[in-house]
Amino acid sequence: MKIGTPKEIFEGENRVAMTPESALQLQKLGHTCVIETGAGAAAGFDDAAYEAAGVEVAKTAAALWKAADVVAKVRPPSDAEVKRLRASQTLISMFNPAGNTELMEAAAKKGATVMAMDMVPRISRAQKMDALSSMANIAGYRAVIEAGNNFGRFFTGQITAAGKVPPAKVLVVGAGVAGLAAIGTSTSLGAITLAFDVRPEVAEQVESMGAEFVYLDFEEEQADGSASGGYASVSSPEFREAQLAKFRELAPDVDIVITTALIPNREAPELWTEDMVAAMKPGSVIVDLAAEKGGNCKLTKMDEKIVTDNGVTIIGYTDFPSRMATQASTLYSTNIRHLLTDLTPEKDGVINHDMEDDVIRGATITHEKAVTFPPPPPKVAAIAAAPKKEKVKEKTPEEKRADELAAFKAQTKKQVTLLAVGAAVLLGVGLVAPASFMQHFIVFVLAVFVGFQVIWGVAHSLHTPLMAVTNAISSIIILGALMQIGSNSALVIILAALSVFMCGINIFGGFLVTRRMLAMFQKS
Ligand code: NAI
Repeated sequence: MKIGTPKEIFEGENRVAMTPESALQLQKLGHTCVIETGAGAAAGFDDAAYEAAGVEVAKTAAALWKAADVVAKVRPPSDAEVKRLRASQTLISMFNPAGNTELMEAAAKKGATVMAMDMVPRISRAQKMDALSSMANIAGYRAVIEAGNNFGRFFTGQITAAGKVPPAKVLVVGAGVAGLAAIGTSTSLGAITLAFDVRPEVAEQVESMGAEFVYLDFEEEQADGSASGGYASVSSPEFREAQLAKFRELAPDVDIVITTALIPNREAPELWTEDMVAAMKPGSVIVDLAAEKGGNCKLTKMDEKIVTDNGVTIIGYTDFPSRMATQASTLYSTNIRHLLTDLTPEKDGVINHDMEDDVIRGATITHEKAVTFPPPPPKVAAIAAAPKKEKVKEKTPEEKRADELAAFKAQTKKQVTLLAVGAAVLLGVGLVAPASFMQHFIVFVLAVFVGFQVIWGVAHSLHTPLMAVTNAISSIIILGALMQIGSNSALVIILAALSVFMCGINIFGGFLVTRRMLAMFQKS
């Protein structure tokens, strides 16, 4: 089959659905590739790069649509593009089928098969084709970069000769794909990061990324926010009130707010109200990723950046992935390539549109002259639906103290027993062994005891460096060998040199191994 990618016609769209690298991979599936001239230019891929990857370059959009059996693009098709579709042609793109029913029906009438990248089900097997996640990941990252660009201070705290700088405080609302990417970026830049989500199972993920999960003082379980498909459900009015009260409390304290809260097929919930914006410090920044769906912040203006009277910048851009077009195109084209891999099971360049396959069925919105949207629910569970955990009851200070006391008593009992057994063994040996043996034996026992106490008291993570040091100390015999090197006997010199060599290996080898092991744990 011939896979073709036209130039995006949506104004300001810089992404492209095929890169030279993805074209090479598509050719391995037995397909040939064609691209409209200049389609990749805004994403940093020129025609020559495509030609070098064996891609044919079509001079016009019309020629491209005519030549391609499968058209892969980023944005939903325009009316004109749908008119270009023909029977037996396949279109793969974002589509928003719920909001574009007329276009969908028109495509079905033409007999074309349309696969919506935004309908790929969120199941484990489909993660590699999940373009929404790829793009949300970029949006989360870029939201922090954009916030930093509009924020007049460092993210990380610093102590400089010119004075102390406090770290920025960032609040991320909604810890889905975009939110987690924002959290990761914010913590890596050194900001104090707080995050909130209605799904409490994400608290662990949030904390593992170095951020603090904001818990509500609310009786109804936050777990009620979890619904099927790994998405959130609508919160109760009481829960919402508790959430807003918490945000109101945080507003004067946070410098940057990144909102990503969304429930599919609904308007974005309003979570950052006018009074919260008014309570923020001048110079603070809000990046509202939900701007396209009405925004999580009351004052957000879609595709605009505004500054309020009290000096708060509110960013409502909806094209973050396009602002990082090279990265976004690389990820998106890889998602498309994976979908086409599933569509070409024999790797023979022949598309097998298997409607029994959950992923293919889920993404297909028109097929064989019929609208096939919405799809039936997938047969397997969504990835993000985690099992509900038992709620662990927080202990009172008295209970905690009682636990500590019990643990201390048990520990003391164990130590006293050990000491008594040790003393009895020593006494027994002392009664039967000669005095010279006892002297060495006592030194040995003491060395074991001190060594045990020293090593046991050290945190596990420090055992490897500690071993390197003790290993080096054990090589103290190198001093003896060095003293013997000046001997008159050739045999002694050889043996001493050998000893120095081996001790050297022992000392330096230990440190080298430690270095390599520590490097494995260092963040690249
Ligand atoms: P997602 O569904 O993975 O995450 C949304 C998160 O919000 C979920 O974790 C959900 O539990 C949470 N949430 C829902 N209601 C909430 C509430 N009332 N309070 C707190 N949390 C709540 O979605 P994803 O993929 O992370 O996308 C996030 C947003 O980013 C979406 O609005 C998406 O449209 C937008 N986006 C924006 C882009 C841009 O350029 N502006 C680009 C890509 C995505």
